[in-house]
Amino acid sequence: MIVSPSFLSADFDSLETEILSLSKAEWLHFDVMDGKFVPATTYDETMLKRIKTISKQFFDCHLMIVEPIKHVQEYIDAGADLVTFHYEADPDSVKQTIDLIHSLGVKAGISIKPATDWQVLKPYLNDLDLILIMSVEPGKGGQGFLFNSLDKIRNLADLREKHKYRYLLEVDGGVNFETGKLVREAGGDIIVVGSFLINQKDRSQTIEGLSRV
Ligand code: DX5
Ligand code: ZN
Repeated sequence: MIVSPSFLSADFDSLETEILSLSKAEWLHFDVMDGKFVPATTYDETMLKRIKTISKQFFDCHLMIVEPIKHVQEYIDAGADLVTFHYEADPDSVKQTIDLIHSLGVKAGISIKPATDWQVLKPYLNDLDLILIMSVEPGKGGQGFLFNSLDKIRNLADLREKHKYRYLLEVDGGVNFETGKLVREAGGDIIVVGSFLINQKDRSQTIEGLSRV
């Protein structure tokens, strides 16, 4: 499993040290919230630019924002390797947003909230590099894992196998050793891990353990 740490619950007063403590992970997960798509506001693309100077990780950018099509370029210019936006943010512009991300030379992902049926993604399966299944309501870290995410992963993994689609399956929210194992068994490829990892003393060892769940 690929581990993509979310540093939302980290200490932002010592951000550089916090990011370096997660460097064992191949990926780094950026939770961008705009105060509109979700109530909270986190940071914008300047955070990617800042961390780019100290990290060589794969920048996994999760946009919880309205009108993503207007903003994807900012995140790509700032160093995102993958831009994932929410289906619910603008269901009418999904294909155009995917095409724009691809035309700017990076990978395109889409995310769905816990209450969204995975079947809405069917028209886009051939175009996507990644599908991010939310296993908590987007907006904050530290919530409990919602088990309906596993059915979505199973269905999308089956369909991928059947039609030879290329998308990776990522799960975000409430992931720890136990729920991470369930994600792997369901066919997931990437786990986003926030508060569980940030609360560990030995983060490198925990990342190692999570990658082998
Ligand atoms: C929630 C974010 C997640 C979250 C994960 O809106 O997308 O990435 O921070 O945090 P934990 O692992 O604490 O649920
Ligand atoms: Zn996230």
